[in-house]
Amino acid sequence: MEDSIEVMLQEQNSKLLSRYRDNRVLAFAAGAIFSGIYGLWAMFCLPGMKVPFRLKVPFLPSTKEQTENVMKLLEGRQGRLADLGSGDGQLVFAACSAGFQCTGFEINSMLLAYFRGQAWWRGIPHTHATFVKQDFWKTDLSKYTNVVAFLTPAVMADLEVKLLKELPVDARVVVCRFPFPHWPQSCTGGSGLDQVWAYNVSKTRDTDSSLKTHP
Ligand SMILES: C[S@@+](CC[C@H](N)C(=O)[O-])C[C@H]1O[C@@H](n2cnc3c(N)ncnc32)[C@H](O)[C@@H]1O
Repeated sequence: MEDSIEVMLQEQNSKLLSRYRDNRVLAFAAGAIFSGIYGLWAMFCLPGMKVPFRLKVPFLPSTKEQTENVMKLLEGRQGRLADLGSGDGQLVFAACSAGFQCTGFEINSMLLAYFRGQAWWRGIPHTHATFVKQDFWKTDLSKYTNVVAFLTPAVMADLEVKLLKELPVDARVVVCRFPFPHWPQSCTGGSGLDQVWAYNVSKTRDTDSSLKTHP
């Protein structure tokens, strides 16, 4: 009788142990999959470690409608164009086709490699599109008369200050999905998630100086 109880207990223990081992294997596998997915997401979507946390903007591609709306608000314009955080390069490619000399600033190396590969594949010459691995916050943008940005609401006020200091008076800025909090818009296009806003720096300077004279 005692023997059979011992045997039963042993069987019970070994069942529990194997279930525990199975669970550990499952937990380990789930952890590995989660870390892998997070690693891939961070590699493709997050900007470099050097960008301060407050200014971090992840990768989110523009929709086709959003890109078309941006191009409509740039109609009639020409010259140099900067895309601040060019991601997979969709906006740059569209602007290139419209005749702009484009520079895509991108801090994520994986996106930059993809972007450069696409440009090579499409046969876009360097004179029309340059892709630089550069933090746009640390770049002087004074030579650009057209600027496009699809960032996050958290950084738009900082961006207003930077662009107002650096851009020439005839520059136009087009932002996607999140408008500037203080600048007076010149026009807007699209709706919902595809809405974009255009700002003429000349109008913004006028408002800024009138605010300074009549606070
Ligand atoms: C929301 S995505 C926009 C991508 C692209 N412009 C588009 O419209 O499809 C923002 C991009 O900005 C890049 N980025 C964020 N901070 C940056 C910085 N300080 N300098 C350069 N690129 C940056 C991110 O890596 C990401 O690819």
